[in-house]
Amino acid sequence: MDLKAQIDLTRLPRHIAVIMDGNGRWAKQHGKMRIFGHQNGVKAVRETTEAAAELGVEYLTLYAFSTENWGRPASEVNALMTLLVTTIRKELKTLTKNNIRLQAIGDIKNLPEKCYKELLEAIELTKDNTRMTLVLALNYSARWEIMQAVNNIAQAAKDNNIQPGNITETTFEAHLSTADIPDPELLIRTSGETRISNFLLWQIAYCELYFTPIFWPEFRKDNLYEAILNFQQRERRFGKISEQVSE
Ligand code: FPP
Repeated sequence: MDLKAQIDLTRLPRHIAVIMDGNGRWAKQHGKMRIFGHQNGVKAVRETTEAAAELGVEYLTLYAFSTENWGRPASEVNALMTLLVTTIRKELKTLTKNNIRLQAIGDIKNLPEKCYKELLEAIELTKDNTRMTLVLALNYSARWEIMQAVNNIAQAAKDNNIQPGNITETTFEAHLSTADIPDPELLIRTSGETRISNFLLWQIAYCELYFTPIFWPEFRKDNLYEAILNFQQRERRFGKISEQVSE
């Protein structure tokens, strides 16, 4: 039986997050420049988005550029920014046709202006789409996000809008860039690395982690199905015991 047909559609992860890793190594394997890996990564982005939407996943978050990525050689950073702009522009029609809403998390105001504008425009044009939300993590770092929430809450306390002692998880979550997005239930990282790399640290408290050796440019629909099938075989206990969650 094919992999897709084995998936239990009533137990899909509502939100899948992906650390798209291995573009550079894949390019090197092929004797090419790193940007060739990123360019080929776009095909994997397309396939993953399509497969997730077809299944009925509600949210798909892709880690496209971390705050730490600014430290890469300028030529790679510039090429990545150009690729982001052209990809967003090119894929806008497909997003609209497939009723997919685009959102972004991260310090997006500090992206190059062209990239920021293109992104805002695509977000605005797709805001009423309802089939799936594609969230791009851009200039994102979980510690940046957490510190921003802390500072905003501290300011609100100073202004007497929040009482210290009354700050709850809900208050905190409302100040994260994922405020209206449910926590991911499945996090996939490609390329064999088994790190979180400053991604969604608060939100993955109970997330299932899935690591695959496949380099991102080679990730295809079947690889997503494999990850979901693996997720569906796991027992999610949320701190309880097996008998309690299987009742
Ligand atoms: C990690 O591989 C990948 C990135 C930092 C960039 C991912 C970007 C894309 C796939 C481009 C388009 C994306 C969208 C959403 C429009 P790496 O460079 O760290 O690989 P390495 O670990 O092998 O060096």
